[in-house]
Amino acid sequence: METEYRSRLSYKNKELNFEDTSLKEVLANYPTPLYLYSEKELIANFREFESGAKQLGCDFDICFALKANPNKELLKILAKLGCGADIVSGGELSRALEAGIPASKIVFSGVGKLESEIDQALAAKINSFNVESIEELQMINSRAKAAGQIARVALRLNPKVKAITHKYISTGFKTHKFGLLEEDILSVVNDTAYWTSAKLVGLSVHIGSQLTNLDATGLAVKATSECAKKLPCKLEFIDVGGGLGVNYSNEQSPKAPSIDSYMKVIKDNLDPGYEVKALFEPGRRIVASAGIFLAKVIRSKKSEDCNFLIVDGGMNDFARPSLYEAYHEIFPSLQSDELAPTDIVGPICESSDCFGEKRMMPKLGSEDFIAIADTGAYGFSMSSNYNMREKPAEAILELNGTVRRV
Ligand code: LLP
Repeated sequence: METEYRSRLSYKNKELNFEDTSLKEVLANYPTPLYLYSEKELIANFREFESGAKQLGCDFDICFALKANPNKELLKILAKLGCGADIVSGGELSRALEAGIPASKIVFSGVGKLESEIDQALAAKINSFNVESIEELQMINSRAKAAGQIARVALRLNPKVKAITHKYISTGFKTHKFGLLEEDILSVVNDTAYWTSAKLVGLSVHIGSQLTNLDATGLAVKATSECAKKLPCKLEFIDVGGGLGVNYSNEQSPKAPSIDSYMKVIKDNLDPGYEVKALFEPGRRIVASAGIFLAKVIRSKKSEDCNFLIVDGGMNDFARPSLYEAYHEIFPSLQSDELAPTDIVGPICESSDCFGEKRMMPKLGSEDFIAIADTGAYGFSMSSNYNMREKPAEAILELNGTVRRV
């Protein structure tokens, strides 16, 4: 089952609102470029995912992928809801712990874990290292030995499936650097030399991001279950990864699947032959729709029949359009019937510094602004100081309607 695109941006008396808050009023008090997050939407997304997961009928943990948005205030909200974390660096580990996420709900993914990061995670006593190579397992085993600990390990399966998504964010085929092939998992689990200070507690799989077709997801979870059946020991959990897509527009095709249909795919394929806990690592689905990106108009410019709207946010602040040619809806601050096709661009000296081409926009002046929708995931977290620009600001629209800098 598909879901419809739903925007949290709308006009009241021709002025742009985010939920029920006037963005003009917000920008009277906060600088641009600005990411503004909705606490209400964040909670609703988490709750929807959680109630979907309950349909599995087994124990589960939702480990939010911090890379999508590691803002501490958002993480504190998620932590209070019982959310765990999927981390990929020592920095993300510290952030998750600071926000109150218990170590027992933290899994550590990534192909390039450093010795120092492994030591940090061992000291924190995280739930599991999601191991991506035999060499990494060796290092974790020896660091755990040095610390006098037993490291908890989940081996990440590379299920050799091709996820339909942008090629930069497809991760489940053998040509990708991620995970271990089944034959390597089966050989390493039977070699006691790797397990003197490590214990196999799970298997994990993650085949890509912004997935709207779940066929490959089903195959990957099935392959993981089949692999689990061949292991010499029972697992505590199977981590089915993240990747569930969202809608970025009405026109997007295919549309993002509903949580219910995603959970059905997981349920139909998650069966190692015994009761196992399910772990999820969603990022985008929890935060994308909870964020907007606001930038003020600097000026407009015309070149023959090309209209440019130049705003004070650039590709360094929000990289998805320039990096993946991603489509995001762009809302002008004022509603008008007089529209012209316009390229919305930033100040960076690259032609890829463009948030949207030929969008129908009204004439805007320097008192106006734009809002880019659905930028809560992979927005601020991928921002940089390119061109020696400062990082964008962040604020949260709280449940009681107040806006707070975070
Ligand atoms: N788990 C692992 C091991 C991952 O590598 C990722 C994302 C996730 C979970 C969360 O995936 P999600 O549920 O958010 O799809 N910057 C790109 C997306 C990169 C995703 C990387 N890995 C973008 O803006 O589209």
